[in-house]
Amino acid sequence: MKQETFYITTPIYYPNAEPHLGHAYSTLLADANTRYHALMGADSYFLTGTDENTQKVIQAAEKAGEDPRAYLEKIVQRFKDLYQLLNISFSQFIRTSDAHVHWPGVFEMWKRIDANGDLYKGEYKGLYCVGCEAFLTEKDLVDGKCPNHGTVPQVLSEENYFFRLSTYTKEIKLLIESDEIKIVPASRKSDALAFIGDGLQDISFSRPTRAVEWGVPVPNDSGQKMYVWMDALTNYITALGFGRGEVNMRFWPGIHVVGKDILRFHAVIWPAMLLSAGLPLPKAILVHGMIISDGQKMSKSLGNVISPFELISRYGTEATRYLLLRHVHPFNDTDITKERLDEWYEAGLVNGLGNLVARVMKMAETNLEGPIEKPAVDNFDPEYLQAIDDFNFQTACDVVWRKVGQLDELITTKEPFKLIKTDPEAAKTLIRQLLQDLYIVARMLHPIMPKTCVIIKESILANKKPENLFSRLDK
Ligand code: MSP
Repeated sequence: MKQETFYITTPIYYPNAEPHLGHAYSTLLADANTRYHALMGADSYFLTGTDENTQKVIQAAEKAGEDPRAYLEKIVQRFKDLYQLLNISFSQFIRTSDAHVHWPGVFEMWKRIDANGDLYKGEYKGLYCVGCEAFLTEKDLVDGKCPNHGTVPQVLSEENYFFRLSTYTKEIKLLIESDEIKIVPASRKSDALAFIGDGLQDISFSRPTRAVEWGVPVPNDSGQKMYVWMDALTNYITALGFGRGEVNMRFWPGIHVVGKDILRFHAVIWPAMLLSAGLPLPKAILVHGMIISDGQKMSKSLGNVISPFELISRYGTEATRYLLLRHVHPFNDTDITKERLDEWYEAGLVNGLGNLVARVMKMAETNLEGPIEKPAVDNFDPEYLQAIDDFNFQTACDVVWRKVGQLDELITTKEPFKLIKTDPEAAKTLIRQLLQDLYIVARMLHPIMPKTCVIIKESILANKKPENLFSRLDK
């Protein structure tokens, strides 16, 4: 039987500032999904990386008074550090400035789209927001400014190559309606259909070389560089060897994890590019909500930014993974505060899972002569499976913690630590049952807290209480 493949991607992030909690969350979602499918035996590939051909990096470096290349390297390293601290199991970290790995496939993509007659030269007159790396219309503005960045867009009048996005309107609409490109959740599918509306407009796909410093050159036209989203979206296949031998193209098509802010690019522009180039379309687009803090978007000027590094140093890697996967709503916006994070940590981990493991393992170590046999569990709870199928790790965690609660309850009502004095055999049977169930809990933790999963399983099989899993917080 052919082994199933599983391919998932994160957005490639702009390295114009320190990675923040939103980046950590998107990447963690992809990681948890990958770990689960790899465990189930799929041939898995997990791609992440950075979107580097952007003016934003140059501007940020200038603001910091640093050399742009040096600044870029520093920030990219911060993303890599974060991923290591979060135990992210990516297969590849792609960088779009990599002329060896990324550019050949981008050239190939451009050539195919061109060969299909979907590129033409024209005059672009209008507005451009560097923050969004997108062309805006008057309608998009609030008080003459970009509503996302609060900046006045550049007024452009220049020659560009245009992509005939308009010709794909009907086809893309049908593909989304029929779930051939599955957009999760359904409300985001409606959003995508709404912005397609009655028609898409052709979009600018290049900028004059003199206007942008960094970027992939347009083949056979030294006067133009590709629009950053054109090159960025193509990363999902250049990473697999598209345009340079196709070594890993068997993984395509895959699943894209994106925030709702960039759905339009993934649901419309990217599928149109693939259609034009004669390539398969993404299987699914998983759209998560935004993490907000104290009711507002996190921003430096508001001072409500919660850094993922800060979280990891307070709670540790495993707990940070848990906090984000369980408590950030998979599809809606989630408000996070430091107080709430502390509460979630104490309740779910210190008093919940950590306490249960300590109780059960203490009883087992004291009262059983030896370890139980490795439980022969061959499947997961159907509700857990369904949740993962729905990309809903919050619900998957709820299933696990419901089980944690039930085991706690069982100990409280049956009191095996007392029963051992009156009916030792019954007590031991009960403890063995608890170990079996705890093993099932541990197994379900695999994608969420991979190290904790192993620690619990090993301690069960060695009949030895592990070190305290989650320490209390310093107030
Ligand atoms: N470079 C583009 C993406 C190109 S993909 C071909 C980009 N980069 S970004 O650095 O701005 O990252 C955007 C992504 O980061 C969002 O789509 C989302 O996945 C994540 N998040 C950014 N802010 C977020 C929150 N506040 N909350 C949750 N996720 C957020 O756009």
